[in-house]
Amino acid sequence: MQISDILEKLQSNHNLRTLTSLRREGLYVFHENHKMLNFAGNDYLNLADDTNLKQEFLSHIHSHNFFFSSSSSRSLSGNFEIYNMLESFLANFFTNKECLLFNSGYHLNVSCISALSNLPNTLFLADKLIHASMIDGLLCGNARFKRFAHNDMEELENLLESYANDYERIIILTEALFSMDGDFAHIKQIVKLKQSYQNVFLYVDEAHSVGAIGVDGLGLLKDMGIDYEIDFIIFTFGKAIASVGACVLCANEYKDFFINKARGLIYSTALPPINIAFSAFILSKILSFQKKRENLKKISHLFKSCLLSRGIESLGEAHIVSLIIGDNEKAIQFAKGLMERGFYAPAIREPSVPKGKERIRFSLNSDLKKEQILDLQKAILESIK
Ligand SMILES: Cc1ncc(COP(=O)(O)O)c(C=O)c1O
Repeated sequence: MQISDILEKLQSNHNLRTLTSLRREGLYVFHENHKMLNFAGNDYLNLADDTNLKQEFLSHIHSHNFFFSSSSSRSLSGNFEIYNMLESFLANFFTNKECLLFNSGYHLNVSCISALSNLPNTLFLADKLIHASMIDGLLCGNARFKRFAHNDMEELENLLESYANDYERIIILTEALFSMDGDFAHIKQIVKLKQSYQNVFLYVDEAHSVGAIGVDGLGLLKDMGIDYEIDFIIFTFGKAIASVGACVLCANEYKDFFINKARGLIYSTALPPINIAFSAFILSKILSFQKKRENLKKISHLFKSCLLSRGIESLGEAHIVSLIIGDNEKAIQFAKGLMERGFYAPAIREPSVPKGKERIRFSLNSDLKKEQILDLQKAILESIK
């Protein structure tokens, strides 16, 4: 098959991806001077374009960190002091855990999961809706794995019963707040299941909850007070933290294991120190953004109830809300209608979501106003027709 055939097939299935050039200003994005309220970003606390924050950061940046390249992987000369400082800072919030930074959540999941896959006699049990980066980790590592239906605790329990005796180690993979359906994992039940076995480990990705959830902004697990039960906690910094990069919080021996076996850490130039310094700067302020987190919760409730009041069903229990359209072309048309009315929320299609679950996904943020949500409700009603 020729490349042109593949592209034509994607085009005829209304599933061809293109890159739209955008300019961002605060809550808005501009495409060719058309101004739209942005619902497609993950800047849940609206920090990425906060002029005061940016200025404060730049006026205090230490010359040691004023590097736009680390020029090496961390195993060679790229391990600037700021890396270790941020790792110690984050690890201090958790009991019995060390922290290891990666260049991105994608790097981290692929590298750590494929490294764990190479442990002998290991089986992964993965929620059907885990992020592509975790699936790629399984595939890259040639892992033995089984999937369970999304949040189906009965199926997970049955899988554990069937396989726990056959494997030395079982690792359950889930997200804390799911990136596409916007619902929470049933963490308490998963922890309870784990407690019935000696050889079950939990790997939980908090990409969409760190910064945005919890009284201290350190994610769902910490907020629920069960972080010590989780073996691998993943934070990413490109969403509510408004930066770039990611980290895993895990026992010290796993940190050493990943330093030696996680290929994305070993074989990639470490992020520039200036970016690590910015993550550290934001994370040092994370506790103080509580008001923003409260607003985010309120806005999310408001949006959900606005939809329900007009008979529109949606998925999502927090700041990610999805309207299932179930067809590529219809989802694109819907998104187009919203864009024309000044709201940017592109269609999400296969393979980002399962076939038949094509949707419009709204990522909310803490600084949205009630009037903007009401305007969005109106635009949705008009675009649905
Ligand atoms: C659940 C989840 N994990 C990991 C990632 C990847 O993180 P990053 O964007 O830092 O590569 C994403 C990104 O969308 C995600 O949603």
